Amino acid sequence: MKNRFLTLLILFSFIACKDVSKQHKTEVNTRGTIAEKAMVVSARKEASEIGVQILKLGGNAFDAMMATEMALAVTYPYAGNLGGGGFLVFRLADGTKGALDYREKAPLASTKNMYLDDNGNVIKNLSTVGSMAIGVPGTIAGIFEAQQKYGKLDVKTVLKPVIELANNGFVVTKRQAKRFAAYDSIFNAVNKKQILFNKSIKAGDTIRNKALAHTLQRISDHGRNEFYSGKTAETLVSFLQSEGSIITLEDLKKYEAKWRNPVTFEYDDLTITSMSPPSSGGICLGQIMKMIEPFDLNDYGHNALKTIQVIIEAEKRAYADRSYYLGDPDFVDIPTETLLSDVYLQDRMNNFSFEKPTPSDDLSHGNIVGYESDETTHYSIVDQFGNAIAVTTTLNGAYGSKLYAEELGFFLNNEMDDFSSKPGEPNYFGLIGAEANSIAPEKRMLSSMTPTIVEKEGELYMTVGTPGGSTIITSVLQTILNVHEFGLTMQNAVDAPRFHHQWLPDEIRMEPNGFDDKLIKELEALGYTINLKRSPVIGKVDGILILDNGTLEGGADHRGDDTAVGF
Ligand code: GLY
Repeated sequence: MKNRFLTLLILFSFIACKDVSKQHKTEVNTRGTIAEKAMVVSARKEASEIGVQILKLGGNAFDAMMATEMALAVTYPYAGNLGGGGFLVFRLADGTKGALDYREKAPLASTKNMYLDDNGNVIKNLSTVGSMAIGVPGTIAGIFEAQQKYGKLDVKTVLKPVIELANNGFVVTKRQAKRFAAYDSIFNAVNKKQILFNKSIKAGDTIRNKALAHTLQRISDHGRNEFYSGKTAETLVSFLQSEGSIITLEDLKKYEAKWRNPVTFEYDDLTITSMSPPSSGGICLGQIMKMIEPFDLNDYGHNALKTIQVIIEAEKRAYADRSYYLGDPDFVDIPTETLLSDVYLQDRMNNFSFEKPTPSDDLSHGNIVGYESDETTHYSIVDQFGNAIAVTTTLNGAYGSKLYAEELGFFLNNEMDDFSSKPGEPNYFGLIGAEANSIAPEKRMLSSMTPTIVEKEGELYMTVGTPGGSTIITSVLQTILNVHEFGLTMQNAVDAPRFHHQWLPDEIRMEPNGFDDKLIKELEALGYTINLKRSPVIGKVDGILILDNGTLEGGADHRGDDTAVGF
């Protein structure tokens, strides 16, 4: 990052060329929603509004977190959940930073080879669809842990509008109706009957989820343990076992959310704080940013050939390390310090050349002496007190395992697929795993979720994150760079076309219609393989940027129904 004037020149010349994004029609560097004091940006308008409602009642970001997360569970069953897990990264108004891990866990009865047949081959779909794919859910533990430690309001006040929403219903969007239709047959196959969400639902219809309203009411009345040892736990386990799950009441009783030290690193004048293992997000993001920092991306230009080359080559190297070194820190030793050290990362980029790609086959993990689709969801909150949170939460695949607990009103995750069932075999997101991420009872599966908070010169600057499986890390990366290196507004930064490389397969995924043919041909001429088909969208980023005058700009990705609401 060198010259702000040059940035603006480049920005306006590429706006004039109108090839910023044929797909996204980003024609001017316009600001997103602006608010004076506080903001919530999430995948659904209702969830953002409920978060803001809680803030207006005097709640803080952690109260709004609980309300927003549960409102997403009501309105966005695609990824919002009670049956999944997630990660929180926060920065308090006084600058204190922290992270909360409420990732799912492998059940006590799980085994390393549980997804392999007698010949050692992965049994298709067992870790992705139905009851065997489910990890012990962490979401309710997570939102209670965060809210009870830092929140200001009582749980009943926080959950009241969410329960009303579940009872009164939400209006189905066009995107949502299409998804219900697309997934109808698999819902029927897994559940052996039609569920609440089905192909008869049309855009504009109202869905009332009374079962979920009752579940939330019990949780509101009895607290966290209602989900882990109360009536809800008993109903859930009895349902899961009737479907062949190995999850027991003991699994639920033993579940705990864990406070973790987040990963923090510097890039230029930014301090970036992101999620630590069992998410690979923070380490991977840090590795990529530190590998690209010596290069003058600002000079090369936004989404320009050289910029893409540098970023792609750093991504390959970081994802190769991810595959080998990362897993649940309670089970494996992770050489975090070395993986993020300048010496190690300079060495990793030693064989980088603008002349030709480094083939992924030549890029194993680095040597140190001594690891999607859009099925996750992210929300960002800044409150009127100056606290900021970044939360990414997931069922893993769309609607998780597709198994729907009808009596309780929610889907169960298929997070077990984020383990490496067989080292060397790609998971749903095509990520290759190693021993560090093998299955063991009570172990947490490796994630890519990258809820991130950025400070500039010691002050809160941005809270950002996204769904997107393996593309989460690279989408967060590009959004930060779009603001910091290329001067884009928060809104344009989240809307700009994105690309992605994850080491294997050795190809650059690019959003179709987001990049001009000349650039694609130049990359191909250098020897890169381009895949424009794999990912119609890469990430769905929601972020908040603190502007120079202290106001907040929301970036709500228009790839989805995402909405920023503030006051
Ligand atoms: N299940 C997506 C992730 O955790 O990265």
